[in-house]
Amino acid sequence: MTDTLRDPVLLDDWHPVAISASLPAGTVVPVTLLDQPVALWRDSAGQAHAWEDRCPHRGTRLSLGCVQGDSLRCGYHGWTFNGEGRCIHIPALPALEPDKLKAQTVRYALRERHGLVWVCLGDPLARPEPPPLPESGYAALRKVWCGPYTVNSSGPRIVENFLDMAHFAFVHEGILGVEERAAVQDYIVEAFDDAEFGKGIWAKQCRAWQPQASKAASDGTMVDYTYRVTRPLTAVLTKQSGSGVREAISLNVQPLTETSCQVWIILALDDFASSDADLRQFQDTIFLQDLPILESQHPKKLPLIPGAEVSVVCDRMSLAYRAYLKQSGMRYGLLLPYADGAS
Ligand code: FES
Ligand SMILES: [Fe+2]
Repeated sequence: MTDTLRDPVLLDDWHPVAISASLPAGTVVPVTLLDQPVALWRDSAGQAHAWEDRCPHRGTRLSLGCVQGDSLRCGYHGWTFNGEGRCIHIPALPALEPDKLKAQTVRYALRERHGLVWVCLGDPLARPEPPPLPESGYAALRKVWCGPYTVNSSGPRIVENFLDMAHFAFVHEGILGVEERAAVQDYIVEAFDDAEFGKGIWAKQCRAWQPQASKAASDGTMVDYTYRVTRPLTAVLTKQSGSGVREAISLNVQPLTETSCQVWIILALDDFASSDADLRQFQDTIFLQDLPILESQHPKKLPLIPGAEVSVVCDRMSLAYRAYLKQSGMRYGLLLPYADGAS
């Protein structure tokens, strides 16, 4: 049994696999999620489907096939499967009645939310919806999608880095921090359960002095932050001003394997002057600064073993995230104590 199959926490959760707009009707693409190959395709009516990327006839990748109307045709022998995954035509046996055809693909649950395609490989009723992002519906904020960024590290390492403020002055020196003001002010960490924002942990009253907090910033400023973790591999950073949320940055990790991922970022922000390309380029710059740090961290799996790494008081949000992961029962991408039956 693989580690994936031993981890119902992630199997039963929703994970981003594509930007909706990048999957036009009539296309099929291969994606990977939790070590599983998935064929992602959109039929002529606009309905997206996620299937195991394996033809039930001879195991060929269905993503090598093609979309024909509301069906997917395998590229090897042309067996054709309708939207329910049922084989409806075998070209080598054209006279066979459709009700005699037994072959069936393995289908996964799929949702399109916040401009992304989300897939659940396990039981979608465990968490009926992808993580909430209310800011994506705020009329005062525009939306931009960034990534995917490919990272050779585990999902939890990537999320923990996103929650970390003490690295701004070094990794993002001159943009999100400066060395003379590297001190992290005290902040509050709490569990939350909210009708609008969902359930998880958040950090509030985070403050950081930033030379260029965003693409539009022309001067250094003290930025008020909140962070919230709503799923093991989803975190949202918001920046406030007196009038409310000015920017939300939602980090959504697609685990390819235990130690490699793709990261999808949704921006919802009040900068209507910058172009999409400029906003993406700013995020690219920030993320590419984080990348070598993330890929250098050893071990790649996040250790939840007491004493494995040294923490200090300003790592409070990281520690709360680690406790949240431990409490969730998640295993994939984590190093757990032997007492928890870990590898
Ligand atoms: S392997 Fe797909 S039709 Fe034969
Ligand atoms: Fe960073």
